[in-house]
Order: sequence, then C-alpha cells, then structure tokens
Amino acid sequence: MTTILDVARAAGLSTATVSRALREPEKVTEKTRAKVFKAVEAVNYRPNMLARNLRTDKSFTLLVLVPGIANPFFANVTAGIEATAWKRGYSVLLGDTRDSPEREEHYARLVETRLADGVIQLSPDYAPAESRRQAPYPVVHACGCELTEAPSVRIDNVGAMHEVVAHLIARGHRRIAAISGPQANAHAIDRLKGYRQALEAAGIAFDPGLVLHGSFRMQSGFEAAREILAMSPRPTAIVSINDEMAIGAIQALAAQGVSVPSDIAVTGFDDIDFAAHSTPALTTVRQPAAEMGAKACELLIDWIEDKARDEAVHILPHTLVVRESSG
Ligand code: RIB
Repeated sequence: MTTILDVARAAGLSTATVSRALREPEKVTEKTRAKVFKAVEAVNYRPNMLARNLRTDKSFTLLVLVPGIANPFFANVTAGIEATAWKRGYSVLLGDTRDSPEREEHYARLVETRLADGVIQLSPDYAPAESRRQAPYPVVHACGCELTEAPSVRIDNVGAMHEVVAHLIARGHRRIAAISGPQANAHAIDRLKGYRQALEAAGIAFDPGLVLHGSFRMQSGFEAAREILAMSPRPTAIVSINDEMAIGAIQALAAQGVSVPSDIAVTGFDDIDFAAHSTPALTTVRQPAAEMGAKACELLIDWIEDKARDEAVHILPHTLVVRESSG
C-alpha cells in the first residue's frame, strides 16, 4: 500500500511537510502544494481518512444546508463555498432540506456524530445567535435576513427591494404588484418591507391586494402573473422577489399576448444566469452569491480551527442591474 513516505520521496520533501500540505494546504506555499499534489497523483496515494479523523478528531468536511437545490442562486452560493473549502483542505456535503425541520435535524446529526465539523445554513430563517451558540458545533448563515445575528453573511434585502421599487416609480409606475415568497420566509418578509418603504416614500398607499405569495419556483410566478392580469385596474408593473418567479411571470404574460415592458414592467431579484438571457432581459438585483458562500465558508473554517470567532454580520454589496424588462 502506498504511504505518505512514498509521497514524500516522490516530492523530494519531508513527511511532515507532505502531511501539513494535505492537512492544512493554506499553510504551505503554492509551489509546495503543487509538488505534493503532483506526487500524490504519481504514486496514487489515498490517505486513510478514517484514521486521520480519529487522530485529529476532525472530519475536514462541512455540511451545507440548502433550502432548494434546484434554485440556481443557491447553486452559485454553494459553488463559492466549495471553492473556498477546497482551497482550505475541506470537502463539502450537501443537504437539500426543502425547508423541512425534519430533514434539517437529520442532517444536523451528521455533525453531532463528527461526520462534518460545522454547518453553513443557506436558509434565511431566523435562528437566534443564542441558540446557535448553544449548538454543539459551529454554524454560519450565508444568506441571512435582517434578524440573523453573527456570524453571518447577507445583503441588505430591504434596501435592495426599496431600490427596485423606486426605480419603477421613477419610470412612472404607481400601481405595482408584488410576487412574494411564502409568508413566513425571512427573505420574503425583508423584501416586502423594502417594497412598502419605497411606496410610502413616494406617497403611494400600500395595497395588500397587490401582494401575491408564490413558492420561489417558476410555476408559482406563472400562476401569480395570471392572477395579476385579472386585477382591475391592472397593475402596470410587477416586482418579483426572485428571478425564477419573474421569469415564470413573463412567460404567463407572453402567453396572454401582454408585452413586457410596454404593457407591464417586470423585475426580479438574484441575477441568476437566466436573468440576462430571458426575453426580454430581466431587470434584477445582483446578489454576490459566490462571494457570500466564500465569506461564510471562511468564517466557518476559522471558527472550526479556533483561529477567529468573528462576531460580525457581514453585509455584502448588491447591485441593481437595469435591463429591458423594466422599460
Ligand atoms: O429562497 C429563495 C430565494 O431566497 C432565492 O431565490 C434567493 O433570492 C434567496 O435569497
């Protein structure tokens, strides 16, 4: 069986350096890391992970909990997590929780039994810092909401939606419908708050009849747009709190012969790849998804490795991306 000694010989380095490069790649130079990985491949070295875990009491694995794996936004956040984890010598396990507490508990047990060293939670739902501190393992939120406490990463969801609605108002829209998410979803709550604030700032009364609740999926945007089309008087603009529902809404409008943006303007939120390629191209808010994942991953690994316990809420910058769909 190939051992670490074979790798060390092939790389022309000591076993201590090889072991360090494999355990803590960020602590060796790029050149050493490349030598070691080349030697690992050359001698076909497969370290005994179980033995390593028992020695270090660490699994070098992070558990990422995603509320909806089919949403490209979460795929981009996860890609940022994975790239950072990889650089720092960690692997990533993915749990698609579909917002089910039962699934979350099931996955949490993986950390309790040391199959993972910590959790990155992508669901925004509010978890008080106190309860997270009491969790027997480190937890970091990558897509927090206004109430999510440190350590966490998020954008200013309220401010971003305020900007979108202000942009539509500046283009002359006053009757603006909203396709929101599930009522209890924390991002839906924050983004609707931004919607209301922008209306109030422009002296437009908030009308709850103009707010529909979707599921974040394309089909629910499609269905909500059909309801909006039946409203009288018909809204002249629709803000959707994510891109998928906005794209579904545009499809429903097109199917009824309603033109976007000349008959109704539509906006999204996230800036997933499809946003720039939908017809018409979608005005949206760009969330720096990969950076959010990367930052959360750095915070978690620093915590796991006792380097730093960051007690800050990191609010990353968003961008309003104006395209054809808002006129
Ligand atoms: O959970 C769904 C939505 O919340 C995503 O589309 C993204 O906007 C996230 O913040």
